[in-house]
Amino acid sequence: MNAGIINLPKIEDIRGNLSFIEENKHIPFKIERAYWIYDVPGGEIRGGHAFMEQQELIVALSGSFDVIVDDGQKKQTFSLNRSYFGLYIPSGIWRQMQNFSTNSLALVLSSTHYNTDDYIYDYNKFLAYGRKNEK
Ligand code: TYD
Repeated sequence: MNAGIINLPKIEDIRGNLSFIEENKHIPFKIERAYWIYDVPGGEIRGGHAFMEQQELIVALSGSFDVIVDDGQKKQTFSLNRSYFGLYIPSGIWRQMQNFSTNSLALVLSSTHYNTDDYIYDYNKFLAYGRKNEK
């Protein structure tokens, strides 16, 4: 499955709307970890690395930000600004988060526990890793 937007369920209600995510149903992985990014000062960039194994779903629970997704051949920018859209990112993708609005809240659901060995921080190593894994 490629990186892309997943439409999450949205239960509209005059009392307030509700959305939800179930592992292996709305997303193609089991959730091992959730983390969130908040209080981002204007102009800051988060991410800027790849994961060898981790798959993830990123949701703008509040506010807006952009996620730049790069498979080593093409870059795509996804602007997230609705809490019922999730951006699915498979493993082996370079990604960066930027243009955070004031008070934005980014939820990340991950298929792995936190593991520093899963990170690729060097863009050239990422490109070499992608070439090595090409079939
Ligand atoms: P990092 O993933 O490098 O953040 P970003 O890619 O947004 O710049 O993580 C920043 C710090 O937080 C780093 O010291 C490791 C720590 N961290 C954890 O301890 N557990 C986690 O699940 C995550 C995502 C980060």
